[in-house]
Amino acid sequence: MIPRHLAIIMDGNGRWAKKRFMPHSVGHRAGAQALRKLSEEIEKIGIKYLTVYAFSTENWSRPEAEVRELMGLMREYFQQYIDDSKKNNMRMSFIGDHSRLDPDLQQKLGILEDITKDKTGLHVVLAVNYGGRDEIVRATRKLAKEAAQGRLDPEKIDEDVLSKMLDTSTLPDPDLIIRTGGDLRLSNFLLWQLAYAEMYVTETLWPDFTVKELEKALYSFQGRDRRFGGRP
Ligand code: FPP
Repeated sequence: MIPRHLAIIMDGNGRWAKKRFMPHSVGHRAGAQALRKLSEEIEKIGIKYLTVYAFSTENWSRPEAEVRELMGLMREYFQQYIDDSKKNNMRMSFIGDHSRLDPDLQQKLGILEDITKDKTGLHVVLAVNYGGRDEIVRATRKLAKEAAQGRLDPEKIDEDVLSKMLDTSTLPDPDLIIRTGGDLRLSNFLLWQLAYAEMYVTETLWPDFTVKELEKALYSFQGRDRRFGGRP
């Protein structure tokens, strides 16, 4: 069994650069390249959805130059992804609160979603200014507004109703979450959606995470007994 939906916390770009006596920005650049390459492999393997953590709500606290570098990379890759999607049939979409991004970047993300919306290959979801708690707060606010306007009975709010208000409303929950760089935490990523995902953590730094490393993670996933809280 391969996962239908794979989520990845792409950690370790800074350490990768440091090992090479290079600035952090070089690590992010190598990380963006690794993502592009790996997406092609993931498409070939037959995984349908890939959600990656590109920029968290906490990443604004990084040095201004680093934030600018990450935003710049997204602008740069915008054209690249448009060209790629013509060849590889990939669909791109974005989750997170984009209201804090520069207007030109917000527009680019919207264009990329629109241009690729009918593609039937791998669906790549980039989390940009995304935080799991923030997403749940935004969803709750929408529900509260509907209830206040008399359009929603609070008694009718259940897991399904809340799920439909999340940024991921049209996506299945991830089956497998991979974290590179060795840390054993979720860092506010997809808190609701990962409830029953299998976890795989590797010491490998993100820019070094090749298809060989992915195969190890998939092999581990295949050996898992997924009970979703029930008995075997
Ligand atoms: C964590 O590494 C990684 C990030 C904060 C950003 C991840 C972004 C990318 C891989 C690029 C995405 C770009 C595009 C265009 C989609 P870190 O800097 O925290 O690494 P460290 O823990 O080794 O310092």
